[in-house]
Amino acid sequence: MRIVVSGRLPDVVRERLEAQHEVILNLHDAPMARADLLDQVANSDGLLCMITDRVDAELLDRAPNLKMVANCGVGYDNIDVADCSRRGILVSNTPGVLTEATAELTWALILAISRNVVSGDAYTRAGRFRFWAPLHFLGTEVSGKTLGIIGMGRIGRAVARRAAGFQMPVCYYSRSPLPEDAAAGFEGEAVSFDALLERADFVTLHLPLTRETQHLIDAAALARMKSNAFLINTARGPVVDETALVGALRSGQIAGAALDVYENEPALAPGLAELDNVVLLPHMGSATWETRTRMTALAAENLLAGLAGRQPPNCLNWPSSRSADT
Ligand code: DGY
Repeated sequence: MRIVVSGRLPDVVRERLEAQHEVILNLHDAPMARADLLDQVANSDGLLCMITDRVDAELLDRAPNLKMVANCGVGYDNIDVADCSRRGILVSNTPGVLTEATAELTWALILAISRNVVSGDAYTRAGRFRFWAPLHFLGTEVSGKTLGIIGMGRIGRAVARRAAGFQMPVCYYSRSPLPEDAAAGFEGEAVSFDALLERADFVTLHLPLTRETQHLIDAAALARMKSNAFLINTARGPVVDETALVGALRSGQIAGAALDVYENEPALAPGLAELDNVVLLPHMGSATWETRTRMTALAAENLLAGLAGRQPPNCLNWPSSRSADT
């Protein structure tokens, strides 16, 4: 069969796909251009796509032979899963393998924004470090502060587990009840959305982008946060109304924000990059060698299974009419 892979893969993963199928590769670090992707899917059976590719009606109309879309990412808001299902196309994602890496980066952001890590680095590199002074570069201590986690899936819980190291009480907001064994490894209090915003010194987001979560953090939510609180986002940009966030950061309504994701990624909301109470990263929550190798390998495993007629391990729309072992 013919497979399109829209992003660069580690050699070991590429070789695994090439051993079984004809593989069209993107050999560049940049995403495959939309026009190229549309051309390449036209006569392909499988697509291993990145979270930057939109798999929508336009693409699906161009791909009459497509049987399986394997997303290299846990978030799949880039894919119209319902439309794929209507057309009989399987879709998968890569949950589980990026949990720890994303939790680590969340903590890097918490520490970076509260302790002026990025501005301190820039200051030192610029040759401006000439003396130690008692009131210089004062940040906010993290230890003992309240961590508020919105979205208590795998990543939210991995962030919570690490809070014990900083003696931080954890409160969390989750719309669905936690699985029975999920509370193991961390202590936390389930609270309402409003109570979390009012109580937390660090509000960190770990929920998927859906119609319900879009702009969950809007002007009203930001107004509920404490004026000395920080917002951390390693989930999806559109969960936050970025224009409202710029306003809240400018006016001092909240103390700062550390973001890995953006509402109109890769564009930033006007004014965001000019603020000095933000840390801004280029969507790198899962960017470790270990994790990206696992993510691409899992996406490939899903794709190979689907194309072989087997249920992919992380299938999002396996038809109930098909048994697991067909
Ligand atoms: C994902 O998997 O959804 C992440 O955003 C990629 O880093």
